[in-house]
Amino acid sequence: MDDPTLDPADWDGLRTSAHDLLDRALDRLQSARDGRVWTPMPEAMKSGLKAGLPGKGIAHDALADRLSDLMPYGVGNTHPRFFGWVHGAGNPGGVMAEIAAAAMNANLGGRDHGAIHVERQVLDWCCAMMGFPADSGGLIVSGTSMATIIALKAARDRRLDFTSRSKGVGGARLTGYASTQAHSCVARAFDMLGLGSDALRPVPCLGDFTMDLCALRQMIREDAEAGLTPFAVIGTAGSVNVGAIDDLAGLADIAATKDLWFHVDGAFGATAILSDPVRSRLRGMERADSLAFDFHKWLHVNYDAGCVLIRDRDAHLRAFSERPDYLAASTRGLAAGNPWPVEFGPELSRGFRALKIWAHLLEHGTEKLGAAITRNVEQARYLASRIGETPGLELLAPATLNIVCFRYAPVGAGDLDALNDAIVIELQESGVAAPSTTRIEGRLAIRVNLTNHRTTRPDLDLLLSEILRIGGWLSSN
Ligand SMILES: Cc1ncc(COP(=O)(O)O)c(C=O)c1O
Repeated sequence: MDDPTLDPADWDGLRTSAHDLLDRALDRLQSARDGRVWTPMPEAMKSGLKAGLPGKGIAHDALADRLSDLMPYGVGNTHPRFFGWVHGAGNPGGVMAEIAAAAMNANLGGRDHGAIHVERQVLDWCCAMMGFPADSGGLIVSGTSMATIIALKAARDRRLDFTSRSKGVGGARLTGYASTQAHSCVARAFDMLGLGSDALRPVPCLGDFTMDLCALRQMIREDAEAGLTPFAVIGTAGSVNVGAIDDLAGLADIAATKDLWFHVDGAFGATAILSDPVRSRLRGMERADSLAFDFHKWLHVNYDAGCVLIRDRDAHLRAFSERPDYLAASTRGLAAGNPWPVEFGPELSRGFRALKIWAHLLEHGTEKLGAAITRNVEQARYLASRIGETPGLELLAPATLNIVCFRYAPVGAGDLDALNDAIVIELQESGVAAPSTTRIEGRLAIRVNLTNHRTTRPDLDLLLSEILRIGGWLSSN
C-alpha cells in the first residue's frame, strides 16, 4: 500500500479541483434567485446514494463532480420564494468562513487557541446585541433546541442547588410555564431533563396569540397550592406559528415576584432587536435569565449556528463544569484559557461555528442585517393587506411580525383544509414557491414565513396569483 497519509500526492490537482468547486458553488449562489425553489432529488441519484461502503477512494476531480452534483438538491431556502417553516436564506460570504474553518480544523471544546478567542468575541457581541450583562455565561450551539436544553438545565440545577447533577431530580416536582404557542423544543427540553413534558404547563393565549398573563398567574398559584414547585417561565419572542411576541416585560415582572427563572425562546424573533421598528416590542427580553436564539434563521448565517446566553454565569458553569484528569485546567500552556467551553454545555468536541458568525457580522454589520429584517416585516404587512383585499383569500391570524397565515376560501368551496394542503403541495412541486402549512384554531393555514433577504414584493405577488390559479384549478377538478 502507498504511504497512508491523507494528504494528497498531487497538491496541484487538489488545488485545481478545489478552485473549480468553489467557482461552481459561487455560481450556484449568484444564481440563487433563478430557477426552481425546491427540486426533488431524481430517483437515479437517490439510488446512487445507496452504494456500499467505499473500499477505495476517488480522484479529486471526480470528488468535486460528486459534490457539485448534490448542490441543486437543497431544501430550496436559498431561493427568494422559499417561505416554509423558519429557514434563513444563507449568504455567499459564508463560504469564505467555511473554507478557513475547514483549514484550521479547530476543536472548540477548550484549550488556549485562536478559535476560542473568536468564540468569546462572538459571545461578547451577543451580550451587547441582546442587552445582556457583559459577564453573562454563553455558548455557541447548533440551534435554539440545544440552547433551550442548556438554559433549562441551568435553571433546573440552580433550583435544586445543583444536587440534581449527581442525584437526579428525585421527587422534586418542578413545573414550568409557556404559552400554547411555544415551540415544541421547550417541551422536549423538559422531557430530556427528566422533568417530563407534562411539567411544562401550556398557558392559554389572548386573541393576538401572546400568553395570557392572568391565566399564567393563576396556574402558578394553583400549582404551588397543590404542592408543586414552579421554577421557570418561558416567554416566546416570535412564535413559530404566527410570529407573536409575548409581553416579555410583564413576564419578567411575574418571574421576579414569583422567584422563577425567566427564559426567552427568541429563535428568530430575538434577532429582530436589530430592526429599528421592531426593537421596542422586545422590551423585557434583556431582563431574562436566559435567552436562546439562532444566527441561521433571520440573520442568515449558513446552517447551523445558534446561541444561548445565561445571565448567572456561575449557575451556567456549575450546571456543566466537569474536568476529568486528562482535561485538567492549567494556568499556562495549551491547556490554559479557562474556563473551557466544555464547562458551559454537554459537548466536548465542538466545531468552529463561531467563525462563520464572526465573519458574517464583520462582513455585513448589524445595521444592514437589521434593515433586511425590517424589509421582511414590511413585506409581511404588504402580503397581509393584499390578502385582505383579494376575494377568495382569508387571513387566519394577524401578521404582526414576519409570518402570514391565510387560506384560499372561495364561496362554496368544500373541504378547505384538504384544498389548502393540496395547494401548498402543488406549489412546492411546481418549483414556483415553497410555503408550508400549520393549523390556526383548528383550521389548516397556508403559512408564509419571511426570513429571506432575497425576497421582493413581486415574489409575493407571484405567490398569490399562483395560489388563486392553483386553487381555482383544484376546485374545478
Ligand atoms: C420559536 C422557535 N423556537 C425554537 C425553534 C427551534 O430552533 P432550531 O431549529 O434552531 O433548533 C424554532 C424553529 O423554527 C422556532 O421557530
